[in-house]
Parts: sequence; structure tokens; C-alpha cells
Amino acid sequence: MKKIAVFTSGGDAPGMNACIRAVVRTAIFKGLEVYGISYGYDGMIQGNIKKMQSHSVSNIIQRGGTILKSARSEDFMTKEGRKKAYEQLIQYGIEGIVAIGGDGTFRGAKVFFEEYGIPTIGCPGTIDNDIYGTDYTIGFDTAVNTALEAIDKIRDTAAAHDRIFFIEVMGRDSGYIALECGIGGGAEFVMIPETETDLKRIVKSLKNLRKTKSSSIIVVAEGDEEGTADIIMNKVKEKVNDPDKEFKVTTLGHIQRGGNPTARDRVLASRCGMSAVEGLINGESNCMAGVVNGDVVYTPFEDCIGKTKALKADHLKLIEILSI
Ligand code: F6P
Repeated sequence: MKKIAVFTSGGDAPGMNACIRAVVRTAIFKGLEVYGISYGYDGMIQGNIKKMQSHSVSNIIQRGGTILKSARSEDFMTKEGRKKAYEQLIQYGIEGIVAIGGDGTFRGAKVFFEEYGIPTIGCPGTIDNDIYGTDYTIGFDTAVNTALEAIDKIRDTAAAHDRIFFIEVMGRDSGYIALECGIGGGAEFVMIPETETDLKRIVKSLKNLRKTKSSSIIVVAEGDEEGTADIIMNKVKEKVNDPDKEFKVTTLGHIQRGGNPTARDRVLASRCGMSAVEGLINGESNCMAGVVNGDVVYTPFEDCIGKTKALKADHLKLIEILSI
């Protein structure tokens, strides 16, 4: 293998730059040529491909976002799109690919590998942490800490005014961010898509609020089956039916996707990036380089996208016990 390419795809995540840096520098260290594809699969189709040098990735380890840009490609979902992408890669003589992204990125990579056979290894880059085959995904730790900082600030004002705050965090299909910042932020309740939300219990508890606590923090993952935070807040407010209680909603949104990656994310990204290149050199393919129990593990794409990484039951229990 002489030439490889790297790209980022799907929602960006803090630490993607550190991962790109690790891929580029490991490839050069091992004597390979390395190309950066801009705008994910769209860039592959359009031939948005440039050779990278060691200095191309200088001064990026600390930056959020992705210097290679990102996109969610409709065209790559079609056979014609993937054919065009293959033709572009062949023109550049690309013999291996590192795909940094989440679920959707790996679905695309798997189909592309099955159709065209270019060895591909993924690195788990998503704030959602919902990828099987790695304990943590690149960007998750930063996103949780960003959300936590916001929750701490909201808690100050919530307590000052005796208010009930519903705080919405990201996670369309995943409650990992909500659960971790809920535990860390001392939330009274956490609502996530993986478990059934018991609104009756929440209403009952909020009705009795003044007897125990004067304010309350409720963290809602955006994908909860009861709806977004404002929808849930309205349902709960109506049922609590107490004009003395003040309800507020804060949606944290995309601030969770930006910012300087934490040390943990930078280290994880660097390990995954280096291992992806080493894996390609050693003949691994159609899999993701992740970290499980502290060790690098290559997990087939099929499992990464097909299996569910179960939430820790004790995490859920923690919220219930510690919020009494
Ligand atoms: O998959 C990462 C993620 O941040 C989800 O948590 C969120 O639902 C989604 O991306 C938002 O995507 P977009 O940036 O396209 O609005």
C-alpha cells in the first residue's frame, strides 16, 4: 500500500482534527502518501482531493470542527454516486481509506467496500457515543463537558428563582450525552430515547417539589419518545397545573458540537487515527479502529452499525438514587 486517503463525514465532532493529524502523520511516518478528501463522500464524488504533508496538519490538534469539512451525502447513497467516487479514487491511485465519522459514515464505507473492494478502516467520530466497538467515540467527552458547563450555569439561575428547567441536549437516537451530563450535573430526571419516559412519575415529583427542593434540572435527549424539551415541558406543566411553579426550557443545540477537544478526546482520536493507518498496512479492512477496555480493537463495520452499545444500567440507577 502506497497511497491512502482520509475524510470526515456526518456531523462534525471535536477531536476529528486530532484524528486527521494522526492519520496524516502516521501515514507519512510509515512512508505512505496521504490525501485529504474535503466534504466527505460528496468530495469523493467530486474529486475534492488534495495531497497532504506533515505541515498540513500543524496547529490543528486543539481545534474543534474539521479542516477537511464534513457533509451528509445524498449522492453517495446511489450506485451512480459511488461509481463516480470510485473513479475519482482510482485516478489518484488511492489504495486505502480512513473514514472518520459515525453510523452513516460506516454504512456508506461498508457498501463501498463491498462494491469496489478498496480497503477501508473507520475511526469513530461522533458526539453521540452510539457506536458499537468502542467504549467512547471521538467528541463525546468534549460534548458532555460543554453541556455540563451550561447545566452548571443554568443551575445557578434555576436555584435563584426556584424554577424548573428542562434542558435539551443532542442525541437524536442516543441518550449517552444526556445521561452523562445528567449524572455530572446532578439532574433530577433524565429523559432518553433508549428507555420509556415515565411522565407520571415526573409530574408527581414536581407537584411535591417545594417540600423537598425548590428548583429542578431535567435533562432531555432531543430524541426522547415524548418529544423535544419544549413539548415535554408543556405536557408536564399542564399536568402539574400549579401557577406558582415556573417552567423554563433551554436547548443547548450545536454548541455541543464545537470547541476545543478535551485531552481525552485528543488522545482517543490520535490512537484511533494511528491504528487505522497501521491496520490498513497490516491488511485490516471493512472495520473500525476503536478502544475497548483501554485497548485498540478492530470491529467489523457490520457490527459497528448492526449492534447496539447498551447503556450501563448503573448509570440510569444513579440518577434515580442520587436525585432524592
Ligand atoms: O449525530 C450527531 C448529531 O450531533 C446528533 O446528536 C444530532 O441529532 C445531529 O447530529 C444534528 O445534526 P445536524 O448538525 O445536521 O443538525
